[in-house]
Amino acid sequence: MNLILLGAPGAGKGTQAELLSEKLSIPAISTGNMLREAIANGSALGQKVKKLMDEGCLVPDDVVIDIVAERVSRPDCSNGFILDGVPRTLPQAEALQERGILIDHVISIEIADAVIEGRMTGRRVCGKCGASYHIIANPPKTDGVCDQCGEQLTIRKDDAPETVRHRLGVYHQLTEVLKDHYAACGQLRLIDGNKPIADVNRDIMEAIGAQV
Ligand code: AP5
Repeated sequence: MNLILLGAPGAGKGTQAELLSEKLSIPAISTGNMLREAIANGSALGQKVKKLMDEGCLVPDDVVIDIVAERVSRPDCSNGFILDGVPRTLPQAEALQERGILIDHVISIEIADAVIEGRMTGRRVCGKCGASYHIIANPPKTDGVCDQCGEQLTIRKDDAPETVRHRLGVYHQLTEVLKDHYAACGQLRLIDGNKPIADVNRDIMEAIGAQV
């Protein structure tokens, strides 16, 4: 079961990727988390992408595709994987296909732009394991602390309102076209992302034909 989760910034891709990973026992692969980890480690890759990410711009396609191709070649992906945040452009989608990374279902989590700012201002993330929370919709058990690894939660730098607006523009300009691309391949399922987290998850499970 190879899945892609599409959606605007804040649509809930990371949240759903983690839930699906648990239920389907396949890894969630978040390019955003992998790039943030590279920045935190101070690696050459991290130094190359930091400014772009802080400004809410996309990092170059070839950089992302190399990371993803390496990640999905690992043994834990042999039964499937969930791509969260990739592909993000048509050339990325084409590159995945050229490298033989085939996809069974593409889920687009649909949410109105007007809802996104509230999601982002309330988001808290774990810099260690990448888990994402919301102070109202999905709070951690202990205020400010990650349920999964006990790390202090922080606010992402690119969640500043003006950066979120820029990221949304990038989504509409470069990523949304992927919906037409995957619809033409007969793989696209649209899911209403305005519902509560558990309901969105149930709808995705039904859309991919998994047992709820
Ligand atoms: P990335 O980390 O992928 O960011 P994004 O796509 O902008 O998405 P987000 O992580 O902001 O949102 P999400 O949809 O995962 O929502 P979440 O579940 O957290 O990318 C960051 C940057 O990395 C990019 O800008 C770019 O620079 C670079 N990058 C990454 N991939 C790239 C690629 N392929 N190509 C080029 N560059 C790339 O939810 C948001 C909040 O809402 C949370 O607080 C959550 O708790 C809450 N929430 C979730 N669902 C619900 C719900 N149903 N109801 C109420 N609240 C909810």
